[in-house]
Amino acid sequence: MKDQIVQTSTELERCPFPIPYGWYVIELSENLAVGDIQNVEAFDQQWVMFRGEDGSVGVTDPICPHLGAHLGHGGKVVGNNIRCPFHHWEYDHQGWCKKIPYGKVMPGIAKKKPILRSLPTQERYDLIFVWYHPKGEEPTFEVPTIPELESEGYIPVRHGQWDIGTCLQEIGENSVDNAHLKFLHGSPVIPPVEASIDGHNFNFDIGGGYIVGKCHGAGIQELRHNQQGVSMLMFSTGLPVNPELTRTRMHFTFKDYPEGSKERNVAETLYQHSIGEAEGKDSAGFESVDMLVWNNKKYRPEPLLCDGDGPIQLWRKFSQQFYVDA
Ligand code: FES
Ligand SMILES: [Fe+2]
Repeated sequence: MKDQIVQTSTELERCPFPIPYGWYVIELSENLAVGDIQNVEAFDQQWVMFRGEDGSVGVTDPICPHLGAHLGHGGKVVGNNIRCPFHHWEYDHQGWCKKIPYGKVMPGIAKKKPILRSLPTQERYDLIFVWYHPKGEEPTFEVPTIPELESEGYIPVRHGQWDIGTCLQEIGENSVDNAHLKFLHGSPVIPPVEASIDGHNFNFDIGGGYIVGKCHGAGIQELRHNQQGVSMLMFSTGLPVNPELTRTRMHFTFKDYPEGSKERNVAETLYQHSIGEAEGKDSAGFESVDMLVWNNKKYRPEPLLCDGDGPIQLWRKFSQQFYVDA
């Protein structure tokens, strides 16, 4: 039998994965007004994002197909198009060349197809979603419907944003790593965890209904913390900036229970503890404990798991499906 090898730090990598395909939140809607242009780094490259007069959002390659000027440095939104600063060619949000102010005939290819690579976009819940696929393939699943984010009677969504120095798979592995909940987060017990793969969804339940989550591809996770009949939604969206950096956004809401009510206090406590310090009783949130681990760990392709560990390999199997070679 072959001896099991335990690799040392120099043989391991931090994030040996390509950027997974899927839907991602690239920006909050409120940060992109009509006429705005923003340069964004995502999926290990630069993009230019703009909003036309009709409200449509374009997220495109920033380099002009004409002579290579950068649309995000000196470009302008004109009507619904982005205009290149160099010779004023214009492109719409799907990357079609709409205007060449001094040419009589469009280059042949520009008549047949978009010449600027663009990402499919969708705006929901005041978030700008983009579909990223390394080969430019069309979406294979939908942006999920989140009842709390489209119903009356909930508090205004609270947004948070953290840049985490690792990839989505490593961050997501937390969801099935129940042992760390006791030892890193300070939970009084190791809660049981159940998990299952359902196509592009990954379902998990920690502590018999205490935390119930569903992942939609690699970049979207809906999670509910439930206690004493109160449920707090944590809608978590992670944007791969590059293979080792993830811009994680979280969007929280709960029912607008009356100020001072027991339910309100439970909801506020669930909110506080999902992010921050433990304050003695419950376990500490990710910001105070997970970040330190994430920012410094390396990926072990062959981890030394013990019988008390959660379904780590199931999570890895789920994640694998979103990796394709460019
Ligand atoms: S380089 Fe953009 S219009 Fe010429
Ligand atoms: Fe954690």
